[in-house]
Amino acid sequence: MQNDLECGDIVAGVYRIDTVLGRGADCTVFSAEHTVTGMSFAVKWLRPKLAGTDATQRLIHEARAMMRVHHPNIVRLRDLECDRGTVFLVMDWCRGVSLKNYLHDYRMDVANAVSVLLPSIRGAAAAHGRRVVHRDVKPENIIVSERQGKRDQETVLIDFGASLIEDEIEEGSALLHEICGTPFYMAPEQIRGNEPVDGRCDQYGFACVLYEMIEGKKAFSEENLGLAMSQKLEGRPAPFRQQKIPRRLQWIIRKALEPSPHRRFANMTEFADVLEPYRARGRRSSIRTQH
Ligand SMILES: Nc1ncnc2c1ncn2[C@@H]1O[C@H](COP(=O)(O)OP(=O)(O)O)[C@@H](O)[C@H]1O
Ligand SMILES: [Mg+2]
Repeated sequence: MQNDLECGDIVAGVYRIDTVLGRGADCTVFSAEHTVTGMSFAVKWLRPKLAGTDATQRLIHEARAMMRVHHPNIVRLRDLECDRGTVFLVMDWCRGVSLKNYLHDYRMDVANAVSVLLPSIRGAAAAHGRRVVHRDVKPENIIVSERQGKRDQETVLIDFGASLIEDEIEEGSALLHEICGTPFYMAPEQIRGNEPVDGRCDQYGFACVLYEMIEGKKAFSEENLGLAMSQKLEGRPAPFRQQKIPRRLQWIIRKALEPSPHRRFANMTEFADVLEPYRARGRRSSIRTQH
């Protein structure tokens, strides 16, 4: 089995590997430069020991989901390549920091949080329009553009590794309700596992993320996963404690966190539209937190 990639390695003849941008369960993501055009990309590379396993099929599936969606706030696939006995994705390099790291360093007010997150909610709506459900919306899978403190700062949704392509599976297929995602951000129907999921599970994921952005902590118990799961299934997010969260916005987030998808907003566009009035109108800024 080959070693993992190193800085300076060239794959598929033209992509010169540079730094590690992030690591996931099955893959490492590197920045890479195209040796002919000089353009920079992000390369999602399967760990060598996983070549030839189901993880390869999942990466191909991810590419098929990504190639359906063209939206400025959805990471764009540029190529699916093959080298050293494995396949890999070539995508746009979303320069910035993951929302997870961003929230560690910065605090956002309501208007800033909605303004930063809404573009990727609109991106997810576009993905749903192409029948792609992300199923793993969480801060690690959202990149905040690096123009920090500027008015046009926004987010891009990445990582379609757990996505569902609704029209590629047969009615009644187990894929419709297979359990995938990340417990803290998963919708109850994903946890229950015996019912089909649709785009409303992404609405739930974004509502968990928005809650965390404006409240400064997770919507469900951070200390006890079992408790968090029962709070989700019973529809009991922690009450909002921050002062300046408008009541209607609290209601919107709680509605998107309803355990039954039927009680949430009908679709992602409707969710985005009700959030729209809370966007910042003037200049926005983030406050660096003290550690
Ligand atoms: N296109 C990209 N541009 C910049 N960083 C990326 C990109 N894709 C992934 N990353 C980084 O790599 C990490 C792992 O990638 P991801 O696609 O989420 O893998 P996994 O499916 O294993 O979670 C991300 O959390 C992010 O920090
Ligand atoms: Mg990920």
